[in-house]
Amino acid sequence: MKTNVLLAGISLATSALATAIPVFPTLPVRSNTRPIRLLHTAPKPHQSPPQFQGARIFSQASETEESTIGGAALSSGTGPKVTSVSAAFVIPHARMPTTGPTANNTAGMYAASFHIGIDSFSAACGASKNRFLRAGVDVFWDGTIGGEQNPWVWYQSSPTDEDGLGFANFSAVAGDLVRFSVTGTEVKVENFGANVTCVKGLEPKQSVVQKIDGEGLCGGEAAWAVEDFPLAGLPNFPVALADFGGVVFKEVEVGFENGKNGTVSKNAEGAEVRDVRLAAQGGRLTACEVVEGGKKVKCDRVVGE
Ligand SMILES: *[C@@H]1O[C@H](CO)[C@@H](O)[C@H](O)[C@H]1NC(C)=O
Ligand SMILES: *[C@@H]1O[C@H](CO)[C@@H](O)[C@H](O)[C@H]1NC(C)=O
Ligand SMILES: *[C@@H]1O[C@H](CO)[C@@H](O)[C@H](O)[C@H]1NC(C)=O
Ligand SMILES: *[C@@H]1O[C@H](CO)[C@@H](O)[C@H](O)[C@H]1NC(C)=O
Repeated sequence: MKTNVLLAGISLATSALATAIPVFPTLPVRSNTRPIRLLHTAPKPHQSPPQFQGARIFSQASETEESTIGGAALSSGTGPKVTSVSAAFVIPHARMPTTGPTANNTAGMYAASFHIGIDSFSAACGASKNRFLRAGVDVFWDGTIGGEQNPWVWYQSSPTDEDGLGFANFSAVAGDLVRFSVTGTEVKVENFGANVTCVKGLEPKQSVVQKIDGEGLCGGEAAWAVEDFPLAGLPNFPVALADFGGVVFKEVEVGFENGKNGTVSKNAEGAEVRDVRLAAQGGRLTACEVVEGGKKVKCDRVVGE
């Protein structure tokens, strides 16, 4: 059996987990004074390309294929390149799961990452190229320091940035509606605050723009993703995926290059859908789908369904 769940700090002596996870990794002592960070590892190429079956598409990947990433990716195929991607979503709360092999580890550490980007899902232009641009938010639950932690909002431009960078003057908490917009030249993040469902006609409470050098992006795909990354400093194991309830990427938009005329805008209709699947954490961990004719990409947290 593979050992690829990280359950920091748990005592396995009397736990049922001891049977589910026979070999336990040696964990370094984590400093509670430093913020927790995830290691934003590069996207991996497809193992089994899916077949599209119309607008409402469920995961076509093999049921046994391990995947740390779920969500949807719209490929440009042989057509015009992707030049921009955007979406708004309410930052989910991170909670300790109560079902599955990672459940109820009250001294444990759980996390989840939500991001959008260009060439950031399946290394559409080849893994060797290793060029992608993405931005998102990570949420954390850590039983040793009081449970739910502040989310971290970040952007990442490979290969110059291997881990993700934060924004100097921007903050967000779970429940806030945030909008991310990524182009080949900048990343923009807006926070519309709590108890808001739609950004239309609203002024953001906070907004930040980061200039990016998108040189060398191939524009092969646009993506909206949920990912189970490892913790920074512990690259070998995806952290136990938090119970985030669900996330809905709304107002999704993709811009495609259109010669001299600028861009053509589309939504996520026809995107490939994939789920996070990790056998050691209970199998299928998300139920993702493209809904409302491509206007939204929705991922619910599930366990082994
Ligand atoms: C985890 O704890 C909750 C609440 O006490 C309980 O309902 C649930 O059955 C537990 N899950 C497991 C897998 O032990
Ligand atoms: C959001 O709505 C809830 C429930 O109505 C309320 O308790 C909370 O204070 C609201 N938050 C903000 C920031 O308005
Ligand atoms: C930080 O953001 C706030 C709110 O958007 C703004 O009023 C302030 O000027 C910003 N400060 C800096 C240093 O950019
Ligand atoms: C580009 O714009 C011109 C002038 O508005 C229009 O005639 C043409 O059809 C457009 N081409 C495309 C590919 O949209």
